[in-house]
Amino acid sequence: MDMTQQQQQQQTEAEQAALWNGRAGHAWVDAQELLDAILRPFEDRLVDEVRAGSVQRVLDVGCGTGATTLAVARLLAGARGSCVGVDISQPMVAAARERAQQEGVPASFICADAQRHAFEPASFDMVISRFGVMFFDSPVQAFENLRQAARGGALLRALAWRSPAENPFMTTAERAAAPLLPNMPARQPGAPGQFALADRERVSSILEESGWTGIDIQPMDVECAMPEKDLNGYFTRLGPVGLMLQEEPDERKRAQVIETVRAAFEPFVRGDEVRFTAACWLIGAQAPFA
Ligand SMILES: C[S@@+](CC[C@H](N)C(=O)[O-])C[C@H]1O[C@@H](n2cnc3c(N)ncnc32)[C@H](O)[C@@H]1O
Repeated sequence: MDMTQQQQQQQTEAEQAALWNGRAGHAWVDAQELLDAILRPFEDRLVDEVRAGSVQRVLDVGCGTGATTLAVARLLAGARGSCVGVDISQPMVAAARERAQQEGVPASFICADAQRHAFEPASFDMVISRFGVMFFDSPVQAFENLRQAARGGALLRALAWRSPAENPFMTTAERAAAPLLPNMPARQPGAPGQFALADRERVSSILEESGWTGIDIQPMDVECAMPEKDLNGYFTRLGPVGLMLQEEPDERKRAQVIETVRAAFEPFVRGDEVRFTAACWLIGAQAPFA
């Protein structure tokens, strides 16, 4: 890697860390209950995967406020197993730790960059993630680091979004608000962010290069829902528009964006509910035996 590439990587890494420790992290903590309810089907799927794996020690990557870590810890409690969540965001890990303490389940948390953290080698029976593996500046380095944390034969089960075109709900706000928010950063295909792992071939080669075997990437379409009354709170806090609105000083502009974006979501509203299909990958792989 030359100097320019190294500088770019450091910049992306710093940007992601700042985002998740700043506006995005706090927004996720504030909206934790709503997001956990929307993403519940994915939590259930990962818990099923862990149950099928009959494992003891699980690593949850990009665990955020800890819903999946806690759900897996609940499952493993009887078998004296445990789940460790790793996340780069201090506010999100603090929220996760508080939840674990209140519940008294065998879950613990590491606040660190999963791409670089020195995990104990070969210490996990399974590595899972609910949308927490798309933000690495070097995905190959990150998945290699996770593979080294996994024992030989350990399974990887990670969920990531497919393309923006297949997930129109996820891009509705930014498409509608774009003319009003010209400074909103455009998404770069493959760059760290929500859709970084949208390209199946790329995901496959990242996993191959980082030493995982048995690579199996399956599409997964999941019906998600939220109460209509929560829609404005959702798009005014989360995603690129939410992040811009958090810093918008002009109240009239803010109101105009909210009105425009809310109207654009109308096709997803069904009475008092908002419904959409989440188009994702279930990324599966296995750590090789030494
Ligand atoms: C979309 S959120 C998902 C959170 C959680 N898995 C859930 O489903 O509620 C992505 C998470 O990845 C975390 N993250 C981003 N980059 C990371 C990195 N390099 N190492 C560890 N966590 C990271 C963020 O802080 C955030 O909590």
